Amino acid sequence: MALKITVIGTGYLGATHAAAMAELGFEVLGLDVVPEKIEMLQRGEVPMYEPGLAELLRRHVAGIEGSTGRLRFTTSYEEAGAFGDVHFVCVNTPQKHGEYACDMSYVDSAFDALAPHLTRPTLVVGKSTVPVGSAARLAERLAAAAPAGPAAELAWNPEFLREGFAVQDTLHPDRIVVGVAGEKAEELLREVYAKPIAEGSPFIVMDYPTAELVKTSANSFLATKISFINAMAEVCEAADGDVVKLAEAIGHDERIGKKFLRAGIGFGGGCLPKDLRAFMARAGELGADQALTFLREIDSINMRRRGHMVELARDAVGGGFLGKRVAVLGATFKPDSDDVRDSPALNVAGQIHLQGGQVTVYDPKGMENARRLFPTLGYADTALEAVRGADVVLHLTEWREFRELDPAALAEVTAERRILDGRNALDPQLWRKAGWTYRALGRPRA
Ligand code: UDX
Repeated sequence: MALKITVIGTGYLGATHAAAMAELGFEVLGLDVVPEKIEMLQRGEVPMYEPGLAELLRRHVAGIEGSTGRLRFTTSYEEAGAFGDVHFVCVNTPQKHGEYACDMSYVDSAFDALAPHLTRPTLVVGKSTVPVGSAARLAERLAAAAPAGPAAELAWNPEFLREGFAVQDTLHPDRIVVGVAGEKAEELLREVYAKPIAEGSPFIVMDYPTAELVKTSANSFLATKISFINAMAEVCEAADGDVVKLAEAIGHDERIGKKFLRAGIGFGGGCLPKDLRAFMARAGELGADQALTFLREIDSINMRRRGHMVELARDAVGGGFLGKRVAVLGATFKPDSDDVRDSPALNVAGQIHLQGGQVTVYDPKGMENARRLFPTLGYADTALEAVRGADVVLHLTEWREFRELDPAALAEVTAERRILDGRNALDPQLWRKAGWTYRALGRPRA
């Protein structure tokens, strides 16, 4: 009989995972403790913007016309315990307030709430990003609290999905990493992922701590790559070099690679910054803090970029923001997402506002979330409206829509033709041809 799967926590990761499991052919029950979230999902609606996810959900959510009916939702742990052969735990692990360490309270409560309902042999699979050592601790806690005892097994299966590509990354992962303590868990997970494995996704089996470390080290590496190129951008600015050319040239070396070498205002979002900090905090607890001191520098290079962007904008408007109008294109931390968590774009917009600038923000998908976080900023319904009357235009999130803007049309409405590209994603020639002064981080002035 086909495995029955539950997904606990229906945020970004969980909602996508639940829909993907249904797409792979399994009966799936998604659980969340927030009833409003469950009601939305039951209607086939997604609480965030993620390309393809709403369609995938509607294809499977029970009660929606024409759906397979394989995906249902609940708020009851009792129901989840009775239903599932495999339980995926996908709750979030935010940064602790006022500390670098990761807040494990949602993970711990999910395990505590589920365990008493595990009366037959089952596999619980952790997907959340956790400090190394958590899986071993949770495996013991699970076996102690579950009526099934040690037959309630644990595996750790980190998730590498990127926002904006969540559906694709979940259905066609570039690797499947599983941390297990026994063969049974491996067997079950091979069954769950049979389809992507057959399509060629590598299935890599390891112990718990290594699986936990794979996730945090992958994110640290990506963050390091971005901060590396941003450090080069700083040097390029000092030496009158061009970081975009430099990245292109070093990227041809296959050992370096072209990806994640876009200099700009740096990384943000709900993962990279907090994972980096949690990793440092955990290494400290383990007595290995020296190994990760470089991550502190990665973090500070990244945060410096935001301040530098503000300085460039201040220079561009003549040394002070008072009475100046600043158009900000982009609010989300990356394109194809409505996520504004730790968004470099909004951070820059907020700093300029606090220094007296009149900031008007436009973003294709992030307006609602941005307004909630920064209600005092100005917002416009289109890029053109944001730019109207601006003394300087800042391009801060690399949406395709912004690359397709017509610089000549914007030149008609702006007060001053000055654009600062915080993402090195616009075509300087195009803007200069339309009479704009184009400046970007890490590139020569003209
Ligand atoms: C990241 C990891 O990529 C993913 O594997 C993990 O599961 C979760 O964290 P995500 O948060 O969706 O995914 O964002 P990502 O695509 O990695 O981008 C992070 C940030 O880096 C964005 O703000 C982006 O604009 C910035 N970035 C990316 C750069 O500044 N330069 C680049 O070259 C690439």
